Parts: sequence; C-alpha cells; structure tokens
Amino acid sequence: MELTREEERMLWGEEGPGVQRAMEILVSLGEIYSADRLVPIRSAQVAGVSYMTIGEAGLEFLRDWAAEDCRVRVLATLNPAGVDLENRAGLEYPHDFAEKQGEILEAYRALGVLPSCTCTPYLIGNLPRFGEPVAWSESSSVIFANSVLGARTNRESGIAALASALVGRTPSYGLHQGENRRATFRVSITAPLQGTADYAALGYYLGRHHDGIPLLEGLSPSVEEMKVLGAALSTGSISMFHIPGVTPEAEEGEGLERVEVGREGLEEAYGELNTTDDVDVVCVGCPHATPREVLEVLKARPRRETWIYTARQNLPLFERYDRDENVRIICDTCMVVSPLREMGIESIGINSAKGAFYCRNLAHLEVRFDSLENLLR
Ligand code: F3S
Repeated sequence: MELTREEERMLWGEEGPGVQRAMEILVSLGEIYSADRLVPIRSAQVAGVSYMTIGEAGLEFLRDWAAEDCRVRVLATLNPAGVDLENRAGLEYPHDFAEKQGEILEAYRALGVLPSCTCTPYLIGNLPRFGEPVAWSESSSVIFANSVLGARTNRESGIAALASALVGRTPSYGLHQGENRRATFRVSITAPLQGTADYAALGYYLGRHHDGIPLLEGLSPSVEEMKVLGAALSTGSISMFHIPGVTPEAEEGEGLERVEVGREGLEEAYGELNTTDDVDVVCVGCPHATPREVLEVLKARPRRETWIYTARQNLPLFERYDRDENVRIICDTCMVVSPLREMGIESIGINSAKGAFYCRNLAHLEVRFDSLENLLR
C-alpha cells in the first residue's frame, strides 16, 4: 500500500504510540483487502461500547489506547452503551455492570470520541454528504450511510473505525470504490408491504438468502422503513441497497438476475424469528427511534409496558408530552446491548428483525416479532 510522507511518519511512531498503533491496524487491514492507499475521512461511527459485548478485555484494550495520549482527528460518534447514562426512566441496571460501562465511556472520552451513544448518528448531526468517505462500524448505520445518504463506508469493526478516527483515514477498498457499489441482483416484491415490520421481514429474508447489493423494485419507503429494512438486510452480509427513485445511486439494473419475494418469504422471516406470544415488554427503536416513531407510540397509548429507545438528543422533545407510566423513553442504550436478562426481562415484543435476531442470539431472550400495531394492541 502506498503511504504519504505524513502517513509513514505516523506508522514509524513519530506522532506517538497511540497513533502508531492505529496506523498499524489500518495498514494491516489495507493489505488484507489489497487497498492501494488510505483515503481521508470526515467522520467515524465507533461500535463496541457496551460492557456486555466487549467485556473486561475490551475495557483494558481501550484503557491502554487512551493512556497513549492520542485523540481523534475527525468527528467520531459512539454506538449505544449498555445503560442509560442518566436513567430518567428509572430502570434497575446491575450496579457493577453500570460501573464498568462508565469506565468504558471514560476511555472513549479520553480518546476524544463523543459519547453520543446512538446507532442513528445521521439523525443527530453526524451526517456525511453524498460521495463522502467515512469509517462507520455499526451495520445498520453503515447500510443507511451507503444506501440512503450515498456516503461511502465499509462495514468496519469498532477497532478499525476508532483507528480511522485517530488518523483521519481509512483503507480504500470495497464500498469506497464506485464499481463495487452497483446492484448485483434485482428484487421484485409481489406482496404489498404493510408498515415497518414487513420491511424488516423483507430485509431479514433477503439477508438470509442472498449476498451482494439488491435493487429493490416498486417500493416507496419512508426514512423509518429504510432504517429497519437496512438493519435487517445487514443481519446477513449486505451493506448497501438501491431503490429506484428513492436512493441516490440506484440505476436501471438491466440484465441483472431477478428474484421474487412474496408473502411466503415474509412469513418465513416472521416464523423464524418468533419464539413466543407472551412478552414482558414491548421494545421500540431498533435502530434508535426517530421523533416520528416516538410520537407514534406515545399517541397509541399502549396498555402494556413499552420501552422506546432513542438518541438522547430527542429526549427534550418529549419532556412535556403526556405519557402513561408504562411507557418509558430510554437513551444511550438498546434492547440488545443492555443486560435485560439480569434486569428480570425474559421476553420482548419488537417490530425490528435485527432487534429480534440479536435479542434471541446475543441477549438470549424470547421474542415476538410483529407489527407495532399488533404489539401495542
Ligand atoms: Fe441499534 Fe441496538 Fe438495533 S445498536 S441497530 S438498537 S441492536
């Protein structure tokens, strides 16, 4: 890989061991993927925040890096942590877990990463423009950035995104290159999609059965629907999609292999993700809820316990909005990366296929994946 003079200096340690470590990671990554150079980035989204997912080893690693006296050079935002940092919703997080979580955030702060703790950075000001190279590492935000915003990012690991933030560069390969961003197959959807859960079911089905970049024909989704669709596609290996007339890089797709998805495909997704009818709590906001989604739930006045996960920046919008006691707005964390089992929750209802998939497989919860309307009823 060809490096500039400045990049070589960083690699040789002339800007300190923390920057050197970051350069070593990026150069190794670039060599693995045959990148010919590094490209400058304007932002990073760093995953690997919850103590539940990175544990003691991750905390030690971050502490060591932070002790090397280096700071990010571009806007760097953080993915959800394992707890709500202010906990105005009054949930009972395990004490030791919350303490460890605080230490992780302290290390990130020392490195200069903003403790935004959301997986929708594009809704709170980390908003790259069309064609801009970035280094993002949360799969749902990666696919949204590539597909809806037209920004360019590979699906980075949390460590690679942090390394990129520390040197302001990322290896140029994969989705940074225009020729790799074209659709590789077309999808005809033969059943009408009703609401976000159907979009999530479609994404999950395609993510299970296909690789590459789908061109989804005949759809006109809202931002919220694209958010859950992308999150569900990314439970497989898909990191970009196109929708003609909606997303900025969609083309005609002439000559591409065509696949059809009908009601049967959607039902397969619902069937695979559902393990129970009986839920302790309904969780909304995977990826984090937009203000429109928060309003929709508050207006529905659900009778059962309902937790809405959203970015902290949205909280003041709803402070004076009438809300029943069983509806809580939770920030900085999500249903997957907080220790729900230790908090006495065994089953959740959710309208996101990504949330359903990881709540089952990572958080070991029973799941009901259904439309918001049915869950709140
Ligand atoms: Fe976000 Fe958590 Fe879902 S990080 S995409 S709400 S699993």
